[in-house]
Amino acid sequence: MDFIDLRSDTVTLPTQEMLDAIKNAKLGDDVYCEDATVNKLQEMAAEKMGKEAALLVPSGTQANLASLMTNCNRGELVLLEAQSHIYWYEVGGISSIAGLFPWPIKAANGAFEPEQIEDILRPDNIHYATPSLICIENTHNRYGGIIVTPKQLKRINEVAQRHQLKVYMDGARIFNAAIALNVDVKEFTKHVDNLMFCLSKGLSCPIGSLVIGSRGFVEKARKMRKILGGGMRQAGIIAAPGIVALQTMVERLREDHENARLLAEKLSKIKGVNIDLKNVQTNIVTFDLDPSVDCNKFLLGFMENGILGLAASTNRIRLVTHRGIERQHVEKTVATAEALLG
Ligand SMILES: Cc1ncc(COP(=O)(O)O)c(C=O)c1O
Repeated sequence: MDFIDLRSDTVTLPTQEMLDAIKNAKLGDDVYCEDATVNKLQEMAAEKMGKEAALLVPSGTQANLASLMTNCNRGELVLLEAQSHIYWYEVGGISSIAGLFPWPIKAANGAFEPEQIEDILRPDNIHYATPSLICIENTHNRYGGIIVTPKQLKRINEVAQRHQLKVYMDGARIFNAAIALNVDVKEFTKHVDNLMFCLSKGLSCPIGSLVIGSRGFVEKARKMRKILGGGMRQAGIIAAPGIVALQTMVERLREDHENARLLAEKLSKIKGVNIDLKNVQTNIVTFDLDPSVDCNKFLLGFMENGILGLAASTNRIRLVTHRGIERQHVEKTVATAEALLG
């Protein structure tokens, strides 16, 4: 059975154009910065984000870790959102490898208020760890792909500057945010010191993320990548589909958003589904089932009907649209949910 796989946008397969690009890529040893395809992708990515330089790394997790290690010294305090990917899903590498002290701040919509930051930034004292970095996640995965807007970023950055802190953005899906708001991605990136974005999610690439920032930041991150075992040789085979993605896949994200919206609106009409439509802003749909419904049984029912979803918590389901998910898949998912809950 061919599944309608709504677990994540990471399940996307490369396009034929990407596979052709891999076959024809000009390669070299990237540890010596000699892979022309990697260099081209990095230049394109930096230019798109309005920063000086970029670095290709194998995964979003490594991008975040290398960036944390580049931005901070061991023992320093990092402010991040309590539901962020770095805090939840990156195996605690922020502490065990980077040696940093994560300070989670809960924010109802994924973006903390400047006052919440100010509250933690107490005057220097012998008892306190030194704060050095604020991390933002955009779009926010566990909040259902919600956007941290340029306006919110600007306010956070103003506090950061007042306290000589840096701002880093886990922008795994930052192009989704830009497409959804119909603005250039630089409207977001101009409010952060550095960031990463993933090629391997809605942009459909098989592997890869890019760390972006000033030239100095990226040169230090290159060394951190090497410590983490991410120094790659003929990495042009990863970069080649990345170039295709930046050229052809960004605008396409709009289709995923339209499908997510359609899915959410139709699901919201089903009894037993509780969904806040204003939080469905990009390609992720999360909804709660009535407490009387067993979430695992529901997902099993989905699976038996050829649909895959994820449990985000005990009674919360997450469905993600991506390339390959069409309107008819949305219709089938809704009809199946209706039958299971009816
Ligand atoms: C917001 C966010 N950051 C980072 C990552 C990590 O990316 P990777 O799975 O490539 O390590 C993910 C993956 O889903 C994510 O959603």
